[in-house]
Amino acid sequence: MKRRKFIQNASLSTLAVMATSTVIGCESKTKEKESLVTPVTHPVQPLVIATWNVPRATAKAWEVLQDRGSALDAVEQGCRVEEADVNNSSVGKGGLPDRDGRITLDACIMDKDGNYGAVMCVQHITHVISLARKVMEETPHVIMVGEGAEQFAYAQGFKKENLLTEASKRAWEKWKEQSVYQPIINIENHDTIGMLAIDKHGDISGACTTSGLAYKMAGRVGDSPVIGSGLFIDNEVGGCTATGMGEEVLKTVASFLVVELMRQGKSPQDACEEAIKRIVEKAGDRYTAFQVGLIAVNKQGEIGAYCIHKWFNYTVYADEKNINYPSDFYIKT
Ligand code: GLY
Repeated sequence: MKRRKFIQNASLSTLAVMATSTVIGCESKTKEKESLVTPVTHPVQPLVIATWNVPRATAKAWEVLQDRGSALDAVEQGCRVEEADVNNSSVGKGGLPDRDGRITLDACIMDKDGNYGAVMCVQHITHVISLARKVMEETPHVIMVGEGAEQFAYAQGFKKENLLTEASKRAWEKWKEQSVYQPIINIENHDTIGMLAIDKHGDISGACTTSGLAYKMAGRVGDSPVIGSGLFIDNEVGGCTATGMGEEVLKTVASFLVVELMRQGKSPQDACEEAIKRIVEKAGDRYTAFQVGLIAVNKQGEIGAYCIHKWFNYTVYADEKNINYPSDFYIKT
């Protein structure tokens, strides 16, 4: 069975009723919506999908969904698992530092209503995904950076922590011997965790958290906390999140692109493939030098994943099964 067919959850029939009722009295809008949004026909099943092999994170998110938690709670709790894992050297505590030995974290979260919160270049806070949610829910802003974001975190009760583990420090000291900045494909010096979930109501939310490129220049921010690039959710259509070379994802606003392609009727798989091809075309000869991986889900619970180089993989928790899958990829030779 083709991967693109592997999960076809389809959505709540009640949503179909809701969709119809919300457009009554607005005929031109109704027509517009009908042409853009795939009709909802079947009951939706909850689903979690995340970049890379993160079964503990997807299991946590699944547990939240089974407890009748929202997709928003699920993606936050799922990402927190990876942020707390000191063996994950690309997210949260234990992430690899910048060139000056500082760990600076980026994260964003987006809910079913299109609300978005992000933090960038934050030190000393493990759970930046929860801080991003606080920005979304407790401030009039959508993005907070650096020191201001940290002050806000402490005011919200977050603990100041040393995120640099002995292992990360040793890796940084070894890197300093040569100080050669050369991102490695698929290790790429990081594995951003992006997660999308559909809850029992059929609502979609997403989250994305990273320590960014290892040994980056101080102050560098990638795609992960930037709306439309590292993550985008439109609860009428679906969601997408990205991993890999943030600079390239930013230049194509890849997650927004995937959601818009799905809005136009493409499946999540076709949308991810088209967005990766766009990145490849824009990069010209450079595309072999970096990895980008995209995962997406639509309102019907269909999923898609695609990347440039082989070996990107993703984890799906659906139908009581938590499975890691290899992504299809662009460079076949
Ligand atoms: N995709 C994460 C980053 O480039 O920072």
